[in-house]
Amino acid sequence: MHDQAYRLREITNSKIIKKADNQGNGLRILAVTSGKGGVGKTNVVVNLALSLAKTGKRVMILDADLGLANIDVLMGLVPKFTLYDVLRGEKLLDDIILTGPYDLKVLPGGSGIQELANLDYYQRERLISALRTFESDVDFLIIDTGAGISRNVLAFISAADEVCVVLTPEPTSITDAYGLIKILSKFKLHDEVSLIVNMVAHSTEASQTVNKIQTVANKFLQIKVKQLGYISQDLSVGKAVRKQQPFAQLYPKAKATNDINQIAQKIMGYRVNQGKGMDGFVNRLMRLFN
Ligand SMILES: Nc1ncnc2c1ncn2[C@@H]1O[C@H](COP(=O)(O)OP(=O)(O)O)[C@@H](O)[C@H]1O
Ligand SMILES: [Mg+2]
Repeated sequence: MHDQAYRLREITNSKIIKKADNQGNGLRILAVTSGKGGVGKTNVVVNLALSLAKTGKRVMILDADLGLANIDVLMGLVPKFTLYDVLRGEKLLDDIILTGPYDLKVLPGGSGIQELANLDYYQRERLISALRTFESDVDFLIIDTGAGISRNVLAFISAADEVCVVLTPEPTSITDAYGLIKILSKFKLHDEVSLIVNMVAHSTEASQTVNKIQTVANKFLQIKVKQLGYISQDLSVGKAVRKQQPFAQLYPKAKATNDINQIAQKIMGYRVNQGKGMDGFVNRLMRLFN
């Protein structure tokens, strides 16, 4: 943990990163994360991506959940290769990318996510130049980071332009989300974090959940906590999961679909910062690993 803390501080202080920070462009890189698993993070990523794609945005998902990568499962896609094969120099990024509805792209991380920690100079350059080719072809890169505060998860959160924390109204989920936000604040990884409250019975429950976090965060942390939106508890979600199709595609009139569409609209209407671009993203990602 000491080692990790050191690296996190190094990221914040780095001049190289600051320079990359200024190379803003159209691409927005969003990390979707959670304190606790099972809160609906992967469903949020897939359906938010789809909702954005439906409006004509060019969206790519990076499945960076190391142990529980299942973006492909939720979309009924079968990846033959992953980032691992790209990093080994055996495949090109184009060979591993899957395409879903509305031209939604999925980049399966697989065991390549673990490999990111051990890249040599050439592999890193290969990754940067491969990702750079998407710079002008993608409006949103949305990352499913996996839950918790492992080095991998924090690296992706830190590298992204914006971070969304998914939580539910359950006390355990609230506590774990707060624990994660506390770390983002302590190591100054982000100035601002957005909350998506999932599986709510009604909108008041969502606001109450956000208020609980905001009250403590305002008192003890140096980070702005915003409510991005909420998603109703909806049987359509489980039904769509069993059919391996995004609920926003299968059930366009469902409550959950309406909720996720509102979140997509809000994201399109509000941008946290300028964005660091692909170079900034990869550089920042690597700094935490080195
Ligand atoms: N809004 C919702 N309403 C009802 N069930 C939900 C909702 N969101 C998620 N779920 C259920 O929770 C399960 C876990 O969701 P998932 O997206 O895989 O979570 P995570 O990625 O956080 O582990 C889903 O399979 C689904 O059955
Ligand atoms: Mg998941």
